Amino acid sequence: MANNNLFTPLQIRGLELKNRIVVSPMQQYSATDGLVNNWHLVHLGSRAVGGAALIITEATAVSPRGMNTPNDTGIWNDEQVNAWKNVVQFVHEQGAKIAVQLWHSGAKGSHSHPRDGMKYISAENGGWLPKSASPIKLDDTYHSEALSVEEIADIRSSFVNAAMRAVTAGFDSIELHAGHGYLFHQFYSSYVNRRDDEYGGSFERRIGLLVETVKQIRQVIPEDMPLFVRISAVDYLEDDDAWRIEDSVKLSRILKENGVDVITASAGGFVFLDKSRVYPSYQVPFAEKIKSETGIITGAVGAITSPEQANEIITSNKADLAVIAREFLRDPYFPLRAAAKLEKDIPVPFQYKRAF
Ligand SMILES: Cc1cc2nc3c(=O)[nH]c(=O)nc-3n(C[C@H](O)[C@H](O)[C@H](O)COP(=O)(O)O)c2cc1C
Repeated sequence: MANNNLFTPLQIRGLELKNRIVVSPMQQYSATDGLVNNWHLVHLGSRAVGGAALIITEATAVSPRGMNTPNDTGIWNDEQVNAWKNVVQFVHEQGAKIAVQLWHSGAKGSHSHPRDGMKYISAENGGWLPKSASPIKLDDTYHSEALSVEEIADIRSSFVNAAMRAVTAGFDSIELHAGHGYLFHQFYSSYVNRRDDEYGGSFERRIGLLVETVKQIRQVIPEDMPLFVRISAVDYLEDDDAWRIEDSVKLSRILKENGVDVITASAGGFVFLDKSRVYPSYQVPFAEKIKSETGIITGAVGAITSPEQANEIITSNKADLAVIAREFLRDPYFPLRAAAKLEKDIPVPFQYKRAF
């Protein structure tokens, strides 16, 4: 382990990653009817050309009501699966792997495109009243009412169906988005979960929806397909009810026992995070603690921007994967550049050989 570096392969069940660099999910707000198009092909495809081992798609809704904005991607029908196949095939042709991030936005549903200010769209204006663990209203933009137990079961089924569709589309892996203030997070954090039925109250009940979903997905996807879960390791709130890192360690241990292979440790999502709390590698300690206390494979994410920084996270064994978002928007070829900088010899697409 001591000699691991950013370009050491990693085997997770049947998936071999050629290095430790992962493209973090990034909503593109560019789909229509949940269908990926040429934008997604070029956007995800160019990061595959750029040498990332694994590309995780943007948050992809498991049902129409799971969407955050009308231009999110989806995977609840066959047409969407076929559109994804094209992207998956191109990524594979470049020697990279691709996972789909499955998601339900819960109380964060029914918002306009960022170009239109990401404002809440009420039912009168063509949107819907989102549903969540509890009738929360985080600020003026999020409204919701509580899901019934039957509706919760429907959502769980949507995740399971979406997982089966992901297998059909050819994805190498699935990541459940259980962070950033979206539905799973709305259940496990008692900051917003005020239920008093089997999905609220105790820690075990609040994580119940996520754990049940994981168990059911594990039953329908191939044994050799890894399952990732992205969590918010902390709520970044001082409130007594806030979710804390100790809760995340406990949750990660339970997820691991139920067949989850990788935890990506992100954070926050209910409140705006003060910029002073964001600095290089600011969330790495969450991945490190979860990894050291549970032994699960972890991805570190947040303000990782340089080859040396990403390499240090891996060589010092703080995390197993460097999950990078915005730096990949600046430079799709970050891995090729990182290899050159760190003097590692990795395959370069022949079309680009003269540049590296
Ligand atoms: C444009 C954009 C869209 C994002 N969309 C998602 C998303 O769909 N799912 C998700 O889990 N995180 C999403 N994120 C968060 C990133 O994956 C990442 O956790 C965050 O940007 C911190 O990493 P960075 O400092 O490398 O950008 C998004 C971030 C950006 C910049």
